[in-house]
Amino acid sequence: MATKVTVTGAAGQIGYALLFRIASGQLLGPDTKVELRLLEIEPALKAAEGTALELVDCAFPLLSKIDISSDPNEAFDGAQVALLVGARPRTKGMERADLLEANGAIFKPQGEAINDHADRDIRVLVVGNPANTNALIAMSNARDVPAERFTAMTRLDENRAVAQVANKLAVGVDEVQDLVVWGNHSPTMYPDLFNAKVGGKRAWDVVDDEAWVAGEFIPRVGKRGAEIIEARGASSAASAANAAIDHVRDWMLGADGLRSMAVPTTGAYGVEPGIVGSLPVRLPGGGVYEIAEGLDVPPFSQERIDKTMGELREERDAVVKLGLVS
Ligand code: NAI
Repeated sequence: MATKVTVTGAAGQIGYALLFRIASGQLLGPDTKVELRLLEIEPALKAAEGTALELVDCAFPLLSKIDISSDPNEAFDGAQVALLVGARPRTKGMERADLLEANGAIFKPQGEAINDHADRDIRVLVVGNPANTNALIAMSNARDVPAERFTAMTRLDENRAVAQVANKLAVGVDEVQDLVVWGNHSPTMYPDLFNAKVGGKRAWDVVDDEAWVAGEFIPRVGKRGAEIIEARGASSAASAANAAIDHVRDWMLGADGLRSMAVPTTGAYGVEPGIVGSLPVRLPGGGVYEIAEGLDVPPFSQERIDKTMGELREERDAVVKLGLVS
């Protein structure tokens, strides 16, 4: 039986970089057939149909079916994995409350549709920004689905941080391990070198350059999205799709070491429950994650974790005020 995978924002640029990789087996492995459900808004349905034609033309042996819809109830019907990519971008002059409200109008009905129609065992990744709080909105409106099924993406931030450290030290990216990004997918995020390892040694010690970490590395990872927009004239798409594949594949199939996932907070590391914040997780496979406890959190880290989680608390308070989250 094929696994039903719903992708929202299917006609967008991340969708275009993502769907072919899902259909080729890179998301769920070479033994799992996939049935794709594409959700788009009416004006973009034709473009989604065009992408579907191209998917057909790839003759992927693992792709058993493609359905396209503008109705969330239809698109999430029986969904076992959902990648929520479509979102409302911030436009000029838009205040944060307006952005949260506009996205609430997308993620509230999608949460309700997941609650009412998705497979009981669904796993959800939110990519569309503001990803953490959009995940919180969807989760809060899917009361019958266990909260831990809802996650948001900070894997792109992790991958960016790994690449920066490898470049600084002139080592391969595979030498950099356990590099966890904490908090919000926003410039306040905190990529942590105290628990990361390079060649088995603490990355903070190997780098041995606090000025670089505080003044260059952390801000560059945090603002990498803006750097890409500046250079490319469009936001990260292929690297975002790649990170979405990494996130879901590792969650479903398992991975070694520590990974970054924005998950519903439980009180671990003193972070208040009730937000969706990026934390260190271990991934044994089977769609399970475990928050890794007992990591080293020195004052340098604590200060930054408090700031980025504080930002998420403010976003949570704003969406509660808007009646999007109870
Ligand atoms: P895009 O604008 O190219 O595509 C978005 C698509 O979503 C459009 O086709 C649009 O019609 C669709 N859409 C809008 N509302 C929808 C709804 N209610 N239901 C279904 N589809 C809907 O944008 P792109 O580049 O593909 O990015 C998508 C999102 O991912 C953005 O919010 C972006 O900020 C975010 N992003 C997140 C990253 C992360 O690391 N978490 C990294 C990069 C981008």
